[in-house]
Amino acid sequence: MKKEIGYHLNPALKNIAAYRVEGGQQAEIKLNQNESPFDVPMWLKEEIMEEFIKEPWNRYPDILPYQGMHAYADFLGISPDSVMMSNGSNEMLYTIFLACLGPGRKILIPDPSFSLYEKIALLLQSQIVTVPMRADLDFDLEAIVRTAQDESVNFIVLSTPNNPTGKSLSFEEIRLIAHSSAAIVLVDEAYIEFSRQCSVLELIEELPNLVVLRTMSKALALAGIRIGFAIATPLLMAEIAKPKIPFASSRLAEITLTKVLANYSLVTDAVSYILHERERLYAALLDIDGVEPFLSDTNFLIIRVSDARALFQSLQSEGILVRNVSGYHLMENCLRFNVGLVDENQRLIEKLRSR
Ligand SMILES: Cc1ncc(COP(=O)(O)O)c(C=O)c1O
Repeated sequence: MKKEIGYHLNPALKNIAAYRVEGGQQAEIKLNQNESPFDVPMWLKEEIMEEFIKEPWNRYPDILPYQGMHAYADFLGISPDSVMMSNGSNEMLYTIFLACLGPGRKILIPDPSFSLYEKIALLLQSQIVTVPMRADLDFDLEAIVRTAQDESVNFIVLSTPNNPTGKSLSFEEIRLIAHSSAAIVLVDEAYIEFSRQCSVLELIEELPNLVVLRTMSKALALAGIRIGFAIATPLLMAEIAKPKIPFASSRLAEITLTKVLANYSLVTDAVSYILHERERLYAALLDIDGVEPFLSDTNFLIIRVSDARALFQSLQSEGILVRNVSGYHLMENCLRFNVGLVDENQRLIEKLRSR
């Protein structure tokens, strides 16, 4: 008799689900994926396309996107051997997890955190050790340090500022974690441009077990082009990049990156606007009855309400798409939305006031 189809598949598939975004990806006011509200300006898109059109599209790009890696290394003022570029930081997460995990290996993940970490770790049949955030959604530093030692974990992943809580570890706290454990410590800085804390990039030389992850999908407004980076010592980078998919980044990604970095005032202006608007929104939310906002170090805000599911649906019926993050540990009845354009934010605030 023929065996069931599942018999031949990776048994870990039973424990994971395909990635999905509740409510979809289309809306009149779309605030559910922590994107930038500002598209790349048309004059810059035209410059990028002018260069991209000259490329031979029938030829493979370089095995690894060396031109993009050099451009980002120059921008950061570090050696290109310390930098790896990927097709979105998600691709780099898969690469690094493949390099660090497998059956019998242990990963420490603060909970709640970015859902992809758990998914990849489950797929690789690794043991997940979670460390709950505190009730105010802040990281529990002491528990992270203690658990990493007690459980002898191989790999620690810290999203800081954290998605979905919006909270951060400080520079010194990350330094302490990475010093107190021999594990590889991956610090996902997807939202660092919006943080009150500074980046740990400068700790790379001091900490041979540290990897920093960056994305161009948030502050750099390039979610559609798919660009991420990892930064580590050349020695560690040579190892963690071994599982990388060859030819994964297109020339379009490299050219776009180079042009956006050359016009970085576009990014700093957008970040200034988002920070200013985030504080204005936070103050407005504090004044709304039945809405409890949390302080955020990111481009999004978390609010707690009495019935998140009902509010999510009612906002959706008005064309406003946010993320219902109520399913996460400690985040019952919480919604998440990123800072949008002024009138988008205003419509959201008015809708929350009048509900
Ligand atoms: C913490 C964190 N890391 C990584 C990513 C993935 O970003 P991308 O693959 O677009 O670079 C996200 C996206 O929301 C995120 O929130």
